[in-house]
Amino acid sequence: MRQLHFNLFLHDTGHHEASWRLPESDPYANLSLAAHQHLAKIAEEAKFDSVFLADSPVLWSDPGRRPAGKLEPTLLLAALVATTSRIGLIATASTSYNEPYNLARRFASLDHLSGGRAGWNIVTTAGEAAARNFGLDDQPLHKARYERADEFLEVSTRLWDSWADDAIVADKEAGVHARTDRVRGINHRGAFFRVDGALNLPRSPQAHPLLVQAGSSEDGKDFAAKWAEAVFTAQPTLSESQAFYADLKRRAAALGRNPDHVVILPGIVPVIGDTPAQARELEAELDRLIAPQYALATIAHTLGVDPDLLSLDRPLPDDLPGEEQIEGAKSRRTLIVDWARRENLTVRQLIGKLGGGRGHRTFTGTPVQVADTIQHYFENGAADGFNIMPAVLPSGIEAFAGKVVPILQERGLFRTEYTGTMLREHYGLPRPALEGALA
Ligand SMILES: Cc1cc2nc3c(=O)[nH]c(=O)nc-3n(C[C@H](O)[C@H](O)[C@H](O)COP(=O)(O)O)c2cc1C
Repeated sequence: MRQLHFNLFLHDTGHHEASWRLPESDPYANLSLAAHQHLAKIAEEAKFDSVFLADSPVLWSDPGRRPAGKLEPTLLLAALVATTSRIGLIATASTSYNEPYNLARRFASLDHLSGGRAGWNIVTTAGEAAARNFGLDDQPLHKARYERADEFLEVSTRLWDSWADDAIVADKEAGVHARTDRVRGINHRGAFFRVDGALNLPRSPQAHPLLVQAGSSEDGKDFAAKWAEAVFTAQPTLSESQAFYADLKRRAAALGRNPDHVVILPGIVPVIGDTPAQARELEAELDRLIAPQYALATIAHTLGVDPDLLSLDRPLPDDLPGEEQIEGAKSRRTLIVDWARRENLTVRQLIGKLGGGRGHRTFTGTPVQVADTIQHYFENGAADGFNIMPAVLPSGIEAFAGKVVPILQERGLFRTEYTGTMLREHYGLPRPALEGALA
């Protein structure tokens, strides 16, 4: 029987903008190893496929408004290796502001250290602020970022394959550690990179880390269809989720890939109460804590307009820049505009909707209601599983793991035990066969 997949999107005190202000929240959780270990442990006990850390090489959010300090994800996940044993560990890293050799090595290291539990959320990094941290005046164009990402992946996968699986023989008698004819430089010459190789690490347990991607623009979806094995996505309605799901599976199949090997995970923000009224109360309490002037500035930035053009108690202006004019996160801009227009929202109402999950769908209700909605999406061509983004952490994941997961397990929709040890096995994905000169 087909079963759900769950990823926990780690986010210090929770995905709600104002979660750090709740009395229960530790405002220093973003810098705490113990806090992250605690979250990973809850997710592992609930048999989640993976935990995930987002990232960007830039001071991402306003440090005045919410905890903005972000530990480097592969370092933090390496520390979680020691206190977990089965759960997958997915780190975000940018193809625009790294070199393939360093990054391929970092993910191979994480895969070796964790016994095959590493995943890479591949991002192209939107925004000129990040570009200015790397000697550029402005961000490379959206299309050029994806072209670089494509070559970046070509180089990385070839580096991971630069040692054959049988290269190491560790023959003490003969004094031969590895067969040098089974290790080969990649000698790559491309538009963006020149890399001789080989990698300075043997092929890792999973061969390649699990490749994850989250772009939803046309270029983003083409990139995902070619490279991604799991896809995160923000989809505010069931019908949009279904359309995205069908579109991406079709694109993957058109490239000759097995569509089952692209696992689609829309984000959801579960807000769980023992009664429907309790759940709604929790949601309302959080929304009251949002500082609207900061949220307005964030929306203006995504839409590519001056914040002065937006006013809290009016709808979005009619003449906004179109997706084709946005060089940042194109698809997030469209999602926000469509949502506001569809429901005729004022900017203040839009902020309330986005506060919980920045465009991800909020499932508010009792454990049974949340489980029912998950099942409905899963059985109606909208998802292979979910990226769980609790509004408040750790209480949100405690509630989800303790109350929703058992219902889904009872219904046979989610595992009660891990059957594999590696991240690819959790997601039902094969280990990549060796390609190229050493195959
Ligand atoms: C769940 C989720 C997590 C994401 N995490 C990151 C991240 O950590 N860093 C980042 O730069 N972008 C992140 N993104 C943004 C995407 O990589 C992508 O840029 C965005 O969805 C816009 O799509 P497009 O680039 O194809 O226009 C994330 C998106 C989603 C849906």
